[in-house]
Amino acid sequence: MTIRGGRASGAHLRLAASAPRSRRKIPRRIAVLGAGGFVGSHLVPRLAARGDTEIVAVDRDLGKLAGGLRGVRRIEADISEPGLLEDVVGGAEAVVSLTALCNPALYNTRPLEVMDASFGDLLPLVKLCAARRLWLVHFSTCEVYGRLALDVDGRRTAVMDEDRTALFLGPVHSERWSYAAAKQLLERVIWAHGRHAGLPFTIVRPFNVIGPRMDFIPGVDGEGIPRVLACFMHALMSGTPLQLVDGGRQRRSFLDVSELVGAVERMLERPDRCRGQIFNLGNPSNDLTIRGLAKALAAAYRKLRPDQSAARFETVTAEAFYGAGYDDSVARIPTIDKATRLLGWRPRRTVEEMLPGIVADYLERYGADCAASADPAGWSQLGRAEFAVGRSRR
Ligand code: UGA
Repeated sequence: MTIRGGRASGAHLRLAASAPRSRRKIPRRIAVLGAGGFVGSHLVPRLAARGDTEIVAVDRDLGKLAGGLRGVRRIEADISEPGLLEDVVGGAEAVVSLTALCNPALYNTRPLEVMDASFGDLLPLVKLCAARRLWLVHFSTCEVYGRLALDVDGRRTAVMDEDRTALFLGPVHSERWSYAAAKQLLERVIWAHGRHAGLPFTIVRPFNVIGPRMDFIPGVDGEGIPRVLACFMHALMSGTPLQLVDGGRQRRSFLDVSELVGAVERMLERPDRCRGQIFNLGNPSNDLTIRGLAKALAAAYRKLRPDQSAARFETVTAEAFYGAGYDDSVARIPTIDKATRLLGWRPRRTVEEMLPGIVADYLERYGADCAASADPAGWSQLGRAEFAVGRSRR
């Protein structure tokens, strides 16, 4: 087991001397599992900056998490390693679980690993937290709602509601839904442990959270297909066409990662209001098509890189892009009434406000690598119809 950051030490960590920024307290000791991922790398610094909590930050790779955070103990290890969970949750007052393989390109190509990561690996955590009556704040996903929003009688609705919307997945051969099914089952296991076995829990369903440090760039710090934001940034930085799966008609609601972690902080401050609840965290005002996102991102990129050619967009079939067994969510708009009512939380950042900072972050981290390795040939393997060039904006 690779452990960095003094796991063997039982000494309490030194907390920042500054007074807490928030008037409400949060648990004094929090274990964050998956702290090195996109969300964890934003959440841990936010909590650490308060100065009133100790954090055990666990991940196989903590490379994205800033170093030198006061009150943070870093453990680089896999949560499935024997004894690790018992060790990291010992002494914690709350556990935030973020670990998952939450990338649609994997759902139909590596479903066994996806389901292990979303269900099998986390079952021991749920049981452990139940046995210890330890508050589990578990990150599930908006994917559990499935292809589109339906009420329990099967009628289409505009928004996805935590307590009223049915969960509508496709047939089993549509392996896209392997992740959603595993996440849904874990939600049901958590719920049952809450109702019948004393587990204090909160379930979070994030809706398309975007921000700096999201995912990876193929060929630079990862392989394969990342989520859409990183796919589009890769295309822009390497001068290749942005691929619009099935024309980019699908809709998503985008939330700024800083607002997501703000909501989680509010949850941690309000255990009595949040225990036993499932929360959507998303921004219904930022509902747009994937084609709309592509165009907005290209425009933000062009502002920072006016010297570059105008972006090109291409339609690609889902089958060609993701392979057999892929399926898609048609639209995904959350209602956030519960989060507003119980947490006093309402996100405000528009996509236009978010994109410049995101583009700048990707350019800083990857711009040089992408420019050096630009290779349109790799992308042109896929058959598709070019539909827009957008050179009029040059
Ligand atoms: C994924 C995860 O499955 C969710 O659990 C997670 O909540 C969500 O991302 C998220 O980012 O928060 P999804 O929105 O389907 O869900 O994933 P993306 O890879 O970001 O794809 C969004 C849409 O863009 C899909 O319709 C996809 O087909 C399309 N896409 C993706 C493109 O048109 N072009 C690309 O290059 C990549």
